[in-house]
Amino acid sequence: MLILTLALAEKLRLDQKYALLAERNAKRNAQEMAQQMTLELAQKAQDLEMTLKRQVRFVAMVSHEYRTPLAIIRTNLDLLSKKKHDPDGSLAFAVNKMKRAVSRLVEVLEINLDKARFATDDFMLRLEYIHLSALVGEVITQAKEFWPGRQLDYYPGDSPAIVISADRRLLKTALLNLLDNAVKYSPLESVVAVNLHCRANQASIGVTDHGCGIPPSEYGRVFEKHYRIPGNNSVVGTGMGLYLVARIVEEHHGRVAIQSVDEGTTVTIDLPIAGD
Ligand SMILES: Nc1ncnc2c1ncn2[C@@H]1O[C@H](COP(=O)(O)OP(=O)(O)O)[C@@H](O)[C@H]1O
Ligand SMILES: [Mg+2]
Repeated sequence: MLILTLALAEKLRLDQKYALLAERNAKRNAQEMAQQMTLELAQKAQDLEMTLKRQVRFVAMVSHEYRTPLAIIRTNLDLLSKKKHDPDGSLAFAVNKMKRAVSRLVEVLEINLDKARFATDDFMLRLEYIHLSALVGEVITQAKEFWPGRQLDYYPGDSPAIVISADRRLLKTALLNLLDNAVKYSPLESVVAVNLHCRANQASIGVTDHGCGIPPSEYGRVFEKHYRIPGNNSVVGTGMGLYLVARIVEEHHGRVAIQSVDEGTTVTIDLPIAGD
């Protein structure tokens, strides 16, 4: 009886020992597997980053390659527009149309380049002092060329001398994206307005449309990369516009806010005034 009990106890002890060993082995295997997977993931992330960087370089190269021929087309269009013999004005009309198309192409290239830069966080601000009301005026002029059928009103307010420290091209990109949305998400015959204000040490640019509006529950999400409000599929877009706007404004230590009601939307960019 005693021998049987001892044998049973020994068996129990061995069983426990093997169970413990098996548990340790399983734990070690799981740890090794997790380590291996972490390594593979890190490698994949690195590969992806490299691919993205290569893509950015490619986009930059392509944009650059396009710039020169586009500049040649522009110069020659300028020459053509100086031609005296144009009895019915059809030459000037066609040339102006082509000039607008070239401007749009240049803009698309530049915006794509900025998007690629932001996708990899591979950018540097080129800051300079800028007269804000003049810059917004330039953007409105450009926007009128892009959307000739639309009424775009500019209210520069009573503070024409607002100076900010900003990256001119990026700021233009941000404003054009807001105007693009205002035009895209509102009826053709409706007015889009841009207001410039100065409050304390902040400059504030508001873009207002009379379109479909943004529900308050979507205010946060529309700034996410690639996010588009479901149901807007008939309008072309990538969901990158407001993400880009938010990033650009953030880089300038500013703020962007949405205010939307049934009859339209105002997106406001607040930027610190230089010297503060
Ligand atoms: N002015 C606006 N009026 C109504 N909806 C808007 C407006 N601006 C942006 N949105 C909504 O926010 C989404 C994200 O905007 P954006 O990032 O510019 O992407 P995209 O215009 O390419 O769709 C849009 O898909 C649209 O649903
Ligand atoms: Mg957009």
